[in-house]
Amino acid sequence: EGGPKPPGNNWSFAGPFGKYDRGALQRGLKVYKEVCSNCHSLSYIAFRNLGDPGGPGYSVAQVAAFASDYKIKDGPNDAGDMFERPGRAADYFPSPFPNEQAARAANGGAAPPDLSLITKARSYGRGFPMFLVDFFSQYQEQGPDYVSAVLQGFEDKAPEGVTIPEGSYYNKYFPGHAIKMPKPLSDGQVTYDDGSPATVAQYAKDVTTFLMWTAEPHMEARKRIGLQVFVFLIIFAFLMYFTKKKVWADSH
Ligand code: HEM
Repeated sequence: EGGPKPPGNNWSFAGPFGKYDRGALQRGLKVYKEVCSNCHSLSYIAFRNLGDPGGPGYSVAQVAAFASDYKIKDGPNDAGDMFERPGRAADYFPSPFPNEQAARAANGGAAPPDLSLITKARSYGRGFPMFLVDFFSQYQEQGPDYVSAVLQGFEDKAPEGVTIPEGSYYNKYFPGHAIKMPKPLSDGQVTYDDGSPATVAQYAKDVTTFLMWTAEPHMEARKRIGLQVFVFLIIFAFLMYFTKKKVWADSH
């Protein structure tokens, strides 16, 4: 795949003890809602998921309030008509376009991909035994590093000798450098109420953390259980060793 290697980040979710930064998840959700959702769907995530353990940590009431901000298409009703109603916890995030053709038509021929699994879809370094990757490789961080780099990789002018076709934009990290997504983020665009800096770098970090959670909502439980399994196996190995010594104590 083309493009320079994206810079690394200190992700809170990296490594065997990694956890999602709750503040980043909530701010990232706000960035998705106010910016990305104008073009990108998030089809695998339901509003109720925002209250699941290991996620943004919303209460039942907060989930209901968040969902009711959305208009959801429903129907047909008894009269046979389609209608719109406020969202409920059980609804999924609605898509900005009715179908792929409409999404393409609105974006110069390139459909904005669904973002639910994008941090996994943009990982590249496969080949290492998967059950060891959180411990010994940077595999888990490749997708997030790339997504965050693309969001910050827009430059007003393409470098000397690089021509970007009409309707595309120069991006340092997008393979081929000509992307059909216009620069989505600029400083001050999204208001944070927890005092975090309103900068492109912070937005990129937060929305990428949020998109890592949408792709791997059970990561915290997975890592916790993984560690418990290691502890169990170590204790079990000792038990087996002493059992073996005892059982075979009389033999010559
Ligand atoms: C592509 C993220 C906002 C339109 C992408 C890709 C990502 C992404 C990760 C895939 C790049 C790749 O294929 O490697 C985001 C995020 C956003 C955002 C996190 C919010 C911060 C927007 C907005 C628009 C948009 C507001 C429309 C105005 C597109 C389009 C593509 C794309 C058309 C396809 C580009 C191509 O294949 O040339 N976006 N995006 N995005 N995005 Fe966005």
